[in-house]
Amino acid sequence: MKFGTKAIHAGIEPDPTTGAIMTPIYQTSTYVQESPGKHKGYEYARTQNPTRTVLQNNLAALENGKHGICYSSGLGATDAILKLFKPGDEIIASNDLYGGTYRIMVRVFQEFGLKFTFVDLSNPVNLESLITPATKMVWIETPTNPLLRLVDIEAIAAITKPHNIQLVVDNTFASPYLQNPLDLGADIVMHSVTKYLGGHSDTVMGAIILNDDETAQRLAFIQNACGAVPGPQDCFLVLRGIKTLHIRMQRHCENAIKVAQYLQQHPKVSKVYYPGLESHPGHELAKKQMRSFGGMLSFELKGDSMPEAVHVMESFNVFSLAESLGGVESLCTHPASMTHASIPKEERLKNGLKDTLIRLSVGIEDIEDLIQDLEQAIN
Ligand SMILES: Cc1ncc(COP(=O)(O)O)c(C=O)c1O
Repeated sequence: MKFGTKAIHAGIEPDPTTGAIMTPIYQTSTYVQESPGKHKGYEYARTQNPTRTVLQNNLAALENGKHGICYSSGLGATDAILKLFKPGDEIIASNDLYGGTYRIMVRVFQEFGLKFTFVDLSNPVNLESLITPATKMVWIETPTNPLLRLVDIEAIAAITKPHNIQLVVDNTFASPYLQNPLDLGADIVMHSVTKYLGGHSDTVMGAIILNDDETAQRLAFIQNACGAVPGPQDCFLVLRGIKTLHIRMQRHCENAIKVAQYLQQHPKVSKVYYPGLESHPGHELAKKQMRSFGGMLSFELKGDSMPEAVHVMESFNVFSLAESLGGVESLCTHPASMTHASIPKEERLKNGLKDTLIRLSVGIEDIEDLIQDLEQAIN
């Protein structure tokens, strides 16, 4: 099956009792048993829910993986992955990460004895020398949030595999439509389903997709034992969102390249971060490991003036100033004070994330209206 057909059909069968083509919302907390332990495979809704099962199978198919496991948020999924490790284990993560991922690592799991090192993994050479016998996981995002750096998944996997280190890829920015990390050697794919997969800014959810049976069993155990499960209505909304993922992604990509090209020639813009631009240092790698370049981009204004950046963000009419990304509507974010505020300022600046950086999640509106909005806001 090709991607669009999988998005609509994979793992989805008509409802066995009525033939309903849409997976029903099984809004129940428990299931009746014939006698103790004799049931139809469902006992209690934290452990299993049919709407969730269908979504999990659909997500696994989209990432060409064997197992899909959903959590109540992207960070819920990250939390479950980090619970695979124990005190003393070392984790190497790229230094350009979603702020909440950095926060759960440093402010929660570091307290429990996990050790984290953050490094620029857009150059895979930086990785090998940091590996010790205690290194158990490498965590990457690609493209990264918010600087859109590209990380070579195959090159990193070639380093982690011989050491038996788990390679986790947060595939939120690309979505499975643009990139399938498991095919490139990653062990675990993580998503904030809240973003492109849901696609309509109406649900918060996370997911993990992987092939290894033993790790999947452990993650499903954590899903049930720790309890961060999504509700059936959210699972329904995501299943519905996914049916148009491929079409939405095509339009996100078409619009984003036009926005990037517009910004690149703008006299007031000093820098545009978008992997679809030939000037982007990761452009060739993006062409190799992604199917197109995505809907996310960031930019800086000449002069690095904070009041000017704020003025632009306040002046938009079509782009809304808001956290999050990946919905049908265009959003603008100020990473330094919003999505990445939990990263200490020195750390942010060291990694190239300036206070004046503006991030755009380019939606699927008409491109003429988006360009006109940028035109009137950056003046
Ligand atoms: C790249 C990335 N990963 C993970 C997350 C966390 O996901 P959630 O907000 O669904 O918990 C986000 C949220 O913005 C994100 O942008």
